[in-house]
Amino acid sequence: MIRSVVRGIGSALPRRIMKNTDFEGIVETSDEWIAQRTGIRQRHIAADDETTASLGEAAARAALENAGLTPDDIDLIVLATSTPNNTFPATAVDIQNRLGMRHGFAFDMQAVCSGFVYAVTTADLYIRGGQAKRVLVIGSETFSRILDWNDRSTCVLFGDGAGAIVLEAQQGEGTIGDRGVLAASLRSDGVHKDKLFVDGGPSTTGTVGHLKMEGREVFKHAVGMITDVIEDVFTQTGVTAENLDWFVPHQANKRIIDASAKKLGIAEEKVVVTVNLHGNTSAASVPLALAAAVADGRIKRGDLVMLEAMGGGFTWGAVLLRW
Ligand code: UT7
Repeated sequence: MIRSVVRGIGSALPRRIMKNTDFEGIVETSDEWIAQRTGIRQRHIAADDETTASLGEAAARAALENAGLTPDDIDLIVLATSTPNNTFPATAVDIQNRLGMRHGFAFDMQAVCSGFVYAVTTADLYIRGGQAKRVLVIGSETFSRILDWNDRSTCVLFGDGAGAIVLEAQQGEGTIGDRGVLAASLRSDGVHKDKLFVDGGPSTTGTVGHLKMEGREVFKHAVGMITDVIEDVFTQTGVTAENLDWFVPHQANKRIIDASAKKLGIAEEKVVVTVNLHGNTSAASVPLALAAAVADGRIKRGDLVMLEAMGGGFTWGAVLLRW
């Protein structure tokens, strides 16, 4: 059977780093509160000339170079983002244009922090359905643009950045020994739509709006939702927590990551953590964490990797792949 195998990976971060202490003059907070409650120590914040499209383009170029490919080799771009450059056209077509791609097709996916997990699952279906041979899957965000910089309960949590992978159709045996995407489980439940949302939009206020979150409510649901979809993937594949080489969770809060890993029985040394460096970069957080663990040599060819994310909607999901 055809499998969607990761052929390359890349990432891009804004030049400016903002430390926790840099917030102390902006809102009533402290490095200690932020670090203890979330694990975040710093995040990158985009300058005016750094956008979701420019960061996404940089991550895409890095992934193509890592794969030894050019834009000519790509059939489809799927961009996961909730902070597009414009309401339309899709920022994915902006990136397509920036890459000089005049063939194929490109679109955005909006599942907030679960965007990359949704996008990988979607790209895998296009590949296995024969609609595309190589897909650039990008997560790129500039959440700093939709933050209320007077709201200490949200502005300290998020950061900007982008990560990308190239998925390629390769022949597999149809077993979990194959490289590539092996299984996925996606969920959403709109009953929670008012717990984490942006209070503006083209069809309502005609403005972009600002992020609003009932943090405690999100926290309360997060661990159960994350572990449910991972357990579904375990059931689908027969894989267990012990079989995993790496757990690459959405990077929102170190306490959520630790509690999820503990509940699933995933050993601490298998958990990739970048929330300390990047904050919550929404759809970019999983590919940024993946890229960091590949770059430093932790994730190697043949490793079994579990990705997961949970966010606004709520949306949540998990993807199991062999690197
Ligand atoms: O990516 C999408 C998923 N999003 C998430 O996963 C976020 C999930 N939620 C969380 O990570 C946590 O709920 C937060 C980090 C947002 C908050 O942590 P918490 O332990 O749930 O704190 P809390 O909301 O219960 O607030 C505790 C106190 C409050 O003061 P009072 O009411 O106890 O007097 C807040 O006003 O901390 C206060 N507080 C702050 N203090 C200093 C809230 N934000 C800050 C801050 N600095 N930045």
